[in-house]
Amino acid sequence: MCGIIGVLGHHEVAPLLVEALKRLEYRGYDSAGIATVENGVLDRRRAVGKLVNLSDLLVHEPLAGKAGIGHTRWATHGAPTVGNAHPHKAGPVCVVHNGIIENFQELRRELSDAGYRFDSETDTETIALLTQSYMDGGMDAITAAKSTIGRLEGAFGLCFLFEGQGDLLIAARKGSPLAIGHGDGEMFIGSDAIALAPMTDQITYLEDGDHAIVTRAGAKIFGSDGAPVSRPIKTVHLDATRIEKAGHKHFMAKEIAEQPIVLAEAMTHYVQNGEITLPEALDFTKFDRITMVACGTAYLACLTAKYWFEQIARIPVEVDVASEFRYREPPIPARTLAIFVSQSGETADTLAALHYAKGKADMILSVVNVTESSMARDSDLALPILAGVEVSVASTKAFTCQLSLLSLLTLKAAQQRGKIDIGTAAKHLENLKKIPSLISHSLAISSDVKKIARKIAKAEDVLFLGRGAMFPLALEGALKLKELSYIHAEGYASGELKHGPIALIDNRVPVVVMAPRDALFDKTVSNMQEVMARGGKVLLISDAKGIAQAGQGVWETLTMPEVDPVFAPILYALPAQLLAYYTAIAKGTDVDQPRNLAKSVTVE
Ligand code: F6R
Repeated sequence: MCGIIGVLGHHEVAPLLVEALKRLEYRGYDSAGIATVENGVLDRRRAVGKLVNLSDLLVHEPLAGKAGIGHTRWATHGAPTVGNAHPHKAGPVCVVHNGIIENFQELRRELSDAGYRFDSETDTETIALLTQSYMDGGMDAITAAKSTIGRLEGAFGLCFLFEGQGDLLIAARKGSPLAIGHGDGEMFIGSDAIALAPMTDQITYLEDGDHAIVTRAGAKIFGSDGAPVSRPIKTVHLDATRIEKAGHKHFMAKEIAEQPIVLAEAMTHYVQNGEITLPEALDFTKFDRITMVACGTAYLACLTAKYWFEQIARIPVEVDVASEFRYREPPIPARTLAIFVSQSGETADTLAALHYAKGKADMILSVVNVTESSMARDSDLALPILAGVEVSVASTKAFTCQLSLLSLLTLKAAQQRGKIDIGTAAKHLENLKKIPSLISHSLAISSDVKKIARKIAKAEDVLFLGRGAMFPLALEGALKLKELSYIHAEGYASGELKHGPIALIDNRVPVVVMAPRDALFDKTVSNMQEVMARGGKVLLISDAKGIAQAGQGVWETLTMPEVDPVFAPILYALPAQLLAYYTAIAKGTDVDQPRNLAKSVTVE
């Protein structure tokens, strides 16, 4: 899930490449590098760690040239070292790569036997060396690159740059997304349109199996059978201001604070004149069951939606993590709606699961943030969550927007299936519309959360408890905390605690209890008492009445506004996010780019 950029420009490209890599850093930030061709000479600079290290290097060792490629890495094969950083160079070839070459060992053996020497532990270097070997055998650059691409198994987005070729880039896509940008006598290649946004909004998306020969005059694209194909040029509008921190210290803080606005905008988009407006093709009377597939936080949005779909629309739902679903080969009976939820729309496992379900499920629906993503394009129907660009690696506003859209789908399904009367549906919709302003008011808990977070930062383990639809939120609270603060955290269904995890409780383990006053409140409170009876330190998150009723003797409290219990998971996502955010600040970890992670996971 690395980030790739390529530029054939009018001016010096190094600054453009670095600027574009900054916009791609969300895809990985273990190391970065660029290569350029200047007067026919191919040269490169690479640095370990954040992009700023590459920028520093370029100040001391600048790289001239009007043609170049760049890469920001999330390590797969080989540790994040300079030697393993991209671009990889072999003789007259430089390559940047996103993905995994599955047959690289076999190719490596073949090249070693032919006398080629490897300088890195990466699968990518094999691509550069194989191309060099074909050129050594007399092929020109284009034929050599094409022959190499034909030998590769696995997933890749690739960009080649050649010695002596200041007007040539070759791009190839299998699995990993790749976009071509069209400028005025300039051409660009990028992992996504965001990377290219300041340079051009004229974008061609390569389809799976395509490769492209790119010169300043334009791009010639070839399909998987090698025959020329025509792919449309689209105008892609990306609001650059949404990619800035807008005065916030971190993207995560900005994205948390943005939730009331984006949720309200999404609600306006999907609810008109009191009616939930969804494409007519989406008819829930045609389905007897739903299967939902996603990864990480998006998976937890699906788990929450399972409670809603089953309780309100009375339709059975199965939820799977994509990496399990895709290889389990589950039977998909007739009259199944398959829903794939993904912020990026590019997550490799979710995309593969979607492809597995294609032709088996009656309808493939994707719920995505990036509307030009592979998942959106490969679905029967794609519904945007309208969260706007999410830069911080930890998902926040995408999660609440996913929940909000899934709750609208639930209400629509309940209406279409006759499981809810008009009055109840209208009441739910009214309550759902209040969520953005409730979140807005609740941002005031930030100063309380900050104080509590300083204490949580000293813990080694933290547990999160919730019941019903709050159970997935307990999992989400734990996921956010561990990914941002590196503190070990687990989420449990409150009722499951005494079947094992309660053995972990002592006075060093904070236990966060997510307890809106719903039908299960008293039961959650009983579980909380069991924790306190064993010396556990409880942070109770509830509304004022809930805290008055059950807050006696707890360690800490956070007071939330009253909310329709059905949609409490959307509101209660906020304290979970803030707790992780401020704990990360207290621990001094990297909030927007936590270690070992990447925003878009395009390898399985
Ligand atoms: C956690 C987080 C990840 C993503 C997961 C799926 O904060 O952001 O768990 O939710 O990698 O990504 P998408 O939604 O792009 O498929």
